[in-house]
Amino acid sequence: MKLKDNVAVITGAGSGIGREIALEFCRAGAKVAICDINMQGAHDTVAEIEAAGGSAIAIEMDVTDEAAVNAGVDKAFARFGRIDTMISNAGVQIVHPIEDFPYADFRKVMDIHVGGGFLLTKACVKYMYAQKSGALIYMGSAHSHEASPLKSAYVAAKHALLGLGRVMAKEGAKHGVRSNVICPGFVKTPLVEKQIPEQARSLGISEEEVVARIMLGDTVDQEFTTIKDVADVAVFLAGFGSNALTGQSILVSHGWHMA
Ligand SMILES: NC(=O)c1ccc[n+]([C@@H]2O[C@H](COP(=O)([O-])OP(=O)(O)OC[C@H]3O[C@@H](n4cnc5c(N)ncnc54)[C@H](O)[C@@H]3O)[C@@H](O)[C@H]2O)c1
Repeated sequence: MKLKDNVAVITGAGSGIGREIALEFCRAGAKVAICDINMQGAHDTVAEIEAAGGSAIAIEMDVTDEAAVNAGVDKAFARFGRIDTMISNAGVQIVHPIEDFPYADFRKVMDIHVGGGFLLTKACVKYMYAQKSGALIYMGSAHSHEASPLKSAYVAAKHALLGLGRVMAKEGAKHGVRSNVICPGFVKTPLVEKQIPEQARSLGISEEEVVARIMLGDTVDQEFTTIKDVADVAVFLAGFGSNALTGQSILVSHGWHMA
């Protein structure tokens, strides 16, 4: 039970990577707040955790809405009495060549990933600083270090999270708060399934080529990263015992981008 009684607030935990992190945290003994705009997904995650004997609460939270983020984190604290781990994971992907990229879509991607990470951090450190401990974890991407065509908004947002994570390592240190960024390669979740036909259309290539060339071409073994791979790293970071591991980004990408 590496995370026994650790209380984690996880955004985007109604689906994909966030959901698996929540399940893995509970297997490790944590109690989790499942925050999402997708309440069906959030309730399903809670039901699965409770069926396995764990503790979880579903919280409706749009990470771009400051009042909703503050209220959601307060609700998690009221239920569990502390906040030990923040996982800023909610995200979307919108792809266009820049000449066709609506500014509203650019702002949406930035608001959810970067604005959401900022607001969630602000709400969580209030409790972590009072406790003098905590772990901030941001869901970056191999695209925090690499670029791909069509992804101006996403790549800019994921690079920005490195900056936010590093600032928080410096600001958080004296309060016992660590801050790190997880950078997965491609993981087969709804966010990625949706991109395969979209990119095939935009780039004029087959869906098989999108997977083999664009998504897995730079890995060492042409394999997708799994939700479990990412969740295992999140458990490791949340449970790490000292401030030695802070201000870092960890690639979980089958060797796509070696940093
Ligand atoms: N799948 C990948 O290949 C991959 C790779 C690297 C990084 N990531 C990152 O991992 C994170 C999770 O992605 P995923 O692949 O699990 O996608 P997903 O679509 O399965 O899950 C994303 C979740 O975020 C929620 N969400 C979206 N907008 C929100 C908002 N405004 N407020 C609250 N919740 C919101 C969605 O409802 C959904 O439940 C994202 O930040 C994504 O950029 C994914």
